[in-house]
Amino acid sequence: MTTQKQIAVVTGSNRGLGYAISRKLAQISIHVILTSRNQTDGLAAKEKLSSEGLAVDYHRLDVTNDVSVQQFTEWLRETYGKVDILVNNAGVNPTPKPEESSLLTVQLETMRSTWETNVLAVLRISQALIPLMKVQNYGRIVNISTEMASLTSIKSDYYPLAPSYRLSKIGVNGLTVLLAKELQGDNILINAYSPGWMKTDMGGENAPFTAEEGAETAVYLATLADGGAQGQFFAEMRKFGGPIQLQW
Ligand SMILES: NC(=O)c1ccc[n+]([C@@H]2O[C@H](COP(=O)([O-])OP(=O)(O)OC[C@H]3O[C@@H](n4cnc5c(N)ncnc54)[C@H](OP(=O)(O)O)[C@@H]3O)[C@@H](O)[C@H]2O)c1
Repeated sequence: MTTQKQIAVVTGSNRGLGYAISRKLAQISIHVILTSRNQTDGLAAKEKLSSEGLAVDYHRLDVTNDVSVQQFTEWLRETYGKVDILVNNAGVNPTPKPEESSLLTVQLETMRSTWETNVLAVLRISQALIPLMKVQNYGRIVNISTEMASLTSIKSDYYPLAPSYRLSKIGVNGLTVLLAKELQGDNILINAYSPGWMKTDMGGENAPFTAEEGAETAVYLATLADGGAQGQFFAEMRKFGGPIQLQW
């Protein structure tokens, strides 16, 4: 299939923030590839967006699985021959047992599995799709992080909560800066942002904001003009009424 539209891949887009980002990108005429590790959930999400008249496609993608990423990349190459935008949204925040709210007692298995999804999977899918961006000298990559991973704020107000999650998102931040350095001169802009605390399955119902509100900054970073921000960390736009950079 050939299309003049930009192609965006959003990981973990069957629900929550990933779904909201997909919807917003499709609403501005970007052709979104919705992805999920569970096909039934992903197809149901695609149907919902299609019923709103939005142009979306679907393919299964488990970002922690080498074969799944290879199959997805091959399908993307054969079907569209390109990708313009990658949103690394899929993530986990395992509910820690009480003793796991401290790095002194957290289970190493919790650390490992969180790192696998939140960091290594971001690297895996980036390694697979960046070559498709390089051939067209264009790409925008958006990594979902959190203010809880800002070393600057941790230094002043650290409270022991979800250490495996925090450390994994510090990894995402580091990956963002290092990849940005490697991509200098390729017109592939990679940035991270904190969507804020949102009412999703992960955020829970007490969160003050919706996934739709959290999705705003993703759209801004996915559609940066050439020469725009590179290797930066952004806050959610709704909080400041515009794009504001956070300290790493
Ligand atoms: N909610 C918040 O307040 C908040 C705040 C800051 C940052 N974030 C970040 O925002 C992102 C989205 O979070 P959310 O609140 O929307 O969480 P969510 O409602 O729990 O959704 C997480 C998504 O990630 C997917 N996922 C997990 N492992 C995957 C894998 N191996 N392969 C493919 N997809 C996978 C899930 O798929 P399944 O349905 O199959 O599980 C689901 O679609 C995450 O990176 C999270 O860390 C969230």
